[in-house]
Amino acid sequence: MKRSITLLDVLLVLVSFVTWVAGDVSYCQQKTPLEVRPHSVTITEFGAVGDGKTLNTKAFHNAIFYLQSFADKGGAQLFVPAGRWLTGGFVLISHLTLLLDKEAIILGSTDSDDWPIVDALPSYGRGRELPGGRHRSLIYGENLVDVIITGDNGTVDGQGSVWWNRFRNGTLNYTRPHLVELMNSSEVVISNLTFKNSPFWTIHPVYCSQVLVQNVTILAPLDSPNTDGIDPDSSNNVCIEDCYISTGDDLISIKSGWDEYGISYASPSSNITIRRLTGETGLGAGIAIGSEMSGGISNVHADSLRFFNSDHGIRIKTAPGRGGYIRKVYISDLTLTNVRIAIRFSGQFGEHPDEFYDLKALPRIEKISIKDVRGENISTAGLLEGLKDDNFINICLSNITLSVTKQPAWNCSYVQGYSNLVSPRTCDLLGGKIYPDHLSDCYRLSNHLRSMVGRKKEGSILPC
Ligand SMILES: *[C@@H]1O[C@H](CO)[C@@H](O)[C@H](O)[C@H]1NC(C)=O
Ligand SMILES: *[C@@H]1O[C@H](CO)[C@@H](O)[C@H](O)[C@H]1NC(C)=O
Ligand SMILES: *[C@@H]1O[C@H](CO)[C@@H](O)[C@H](O)[C@H]1NC(C)=O
Ligand SMILES: *[C@@H]1O[C@H](CO)[C@@H](O)[C@H](O)[C@H]1NC(C)=O
Ligand SMILES: *[C@@H]1O[C@H](CO)[C@@H](O)[C@H](O)[C@H]1NC(C)=O
Ligand SMILES: *[C@@H]1O[C@H](CO)[C@@H](O)[C@H](O)[C@H]1NC(C)=O
Ligand SMILES: *[C@@H]1O[C@H](CO)[C@@H](O)[C@H](O)[C@H]1NC(C)=O
Ligand SMILES: *[C@@H]1O[C@H](CO)[C@@H](O)[C@H](O)[C@H]1NC(C)=O
Ligand SMILES: *[C@@H]1O[C@H](CO)[C@@H](O)[C@H](O)[C@H]1NC(C)=O
Ligand SMILES: *[C@@H]1O[C@H](CO)[C@@H](O)[C@H](O)[C@H]1NC(C)=O
Repeated sequence: MKRSITLLDVLLVLVSFVTWVAGDVSYCQQKTPLEVRPHSVTITEFGAVGDGKTLNTKAFHNAIFYLQSFADKGGAQLFVPAGRWLTGGFVLISHLTLLLDKEAIILGSTDSDDWPIVDALPSYGRGRELPGGRHRSLIYGENLVDVIITGDNGTVDGQGSVWWNRFRNGTLNYTRPHLVELMNSSEVVISNLTFKNSPFWTIHPVYCSQVLVQNVTILAPLDSPNTDGIDPDSSNNVCIEDCYISTGDDLISIKSGWDEYGISYASPSSNITIRRLTGETGLGAGIAIGSEMSGGISNVHADSLRFFNSDHGIRIKTAPGRGGYIRKVYISDLTLTNVRIAIRFSGQFGEHPDEFYDLKALPRIEKISIKDVRGENISTAGLLEGLKDDNFINICLSNITLSVTKQPAWNCSYVQGYSNLVSPRTCDLLGGKIYPDHLSDCYRLSNHLRSMVGRKKEGSILPC
């Protein structure tokens, strides 16, 4: 049967072309070749001993202090050769490459005194776990430009179990440290390395822009507490690609500050691209957004995702008091195996910094599109809980096929949106088909819609 080209077809082609072009401009496309440093030193030149016992904090400090004089001469490289280099926290500088050899292992000290206390983040108002300051990360940098942490699959091992035990037995005095934190920095590259056993979240870019995390492996036991993989926080133009992450909590969690502190700091996360991510998580999600999202989160694009043996696939977490927004999220090509809840929205996640949050500060959640999802051995397809006077709107689901072991497969409250080709059949709140006039509501689904309209002529997806 010959199909005539209608004006609608032409319009749809144009719309999908425009959104394809706009959607494809992400930091993953814009990144530039790595800087080559004209100067290089080796950590042993500063007295470091790679026996796994000698504390090398001073050697790292002195080497980086020495390299400062090369910052305006093309930058410099600090080479860490094969060995086990025990250290407390150290601080990076601009125009620096930290290069680990294949068999190099940087080991975090197990003495908490080697992890100095620093101020709470202004967008959190206090440490995430405890009031007051927090332990500084093992590898730290602030106000930097052009910093590269890389290596031939060398390892940074936080030896976090001592911190997990202090968390479990209630003997922490301050919030646990991250393994790597970059604050207010741009042109950051973290690549070709393995990060293990972080005390807390593993890689934390906060108030950063132009961040590339590529080809890293992040490992921590599935029962280790809060060992998130990568947490872009109040950061924009971030590309995370070709990573394998297996940890106790969210593999990736996009954040932007906490309740009244995040609202007044008002530093959003935007233009976050995640692609070719594989992994498993004990208690977390493959990709989480929130729960700290008070500065707003928008333009999140994730595709080619493979999550297995995990609690959740995709999860949005928020609560009254957070304020802020999560909008324009597009997730596609997701494969889930042995996952308890494939998609979860938690509007009442709770957890507040103090009692001064404003219960009337409601988060705005809208334009969330999830398409091309397959799942085997899923308990629940979707547990989608919005908020009573603050529904999550323009939620669009398309081409989702899950083999589900529990009933009901979908359980929705206070959400609104549309769906096409979802099996098992989604909840009534999202049951309306996606039509051309929903193009502006269903973020970036126009490509898909075009193929749906094609099918409609053959009668296969006529509305019920
Ligand atoms: C952020 O870093 C830049 C340098 O990259 C600096 O000029 C600026 O003052 C820093 N902002 C804050 C709040 O420290
Ligand atoms: C990933 O890193 C490993 C070493 O860790 C390297 O051999 C491999 O070439 C890298 N792959 C890409 C695509 O960069
Ligand atoms: C890097 O090392 C980790 C941990 O030893 C390993 O699981 C991973 O496969 C290695 N990656 C590459 C690209 O060789
Ligand atoms: C708590 O755990 C830490 C780290 O393992 C240990 O040093 C400390 O003795 C423990 N304290 C108590 C009260 O169990
Ligand atoms: C917490 O403070 C107590 C008392 O000052 C100290 O003995 C303990 O070592 C501290 N714990 C940590 C994890 O730093
Ligand atoms: C990772 O390692 C590969 C192989 O050595 C190299 O080609 C690539 O440029 C590295 N990528 C980054 C971002 O460091
Ligand atoms: C996000 O990316 C788009 C397209 O590259 C760009 O126009 C916009 O300025 C970026 N937003 C931020 C906050 O950097
Ligand atoms: C299904 O997934 C659960 C975890 O959600 C796992 O315990 C169980 O073994 C899986 N069943 C099969 C047949 O793989
Ligand atoms: C539906 O998603 C699967 C991947 O899960 C993909 O292979 C297939 O092409 C998609 N179908 C349509 C109509 O887009
Ligand atoms: C749907 O989810 C809510 C909230 O978790 C729960 O209380 C309710 O029992 C669930 N409904 C069904 C039919 O399972």
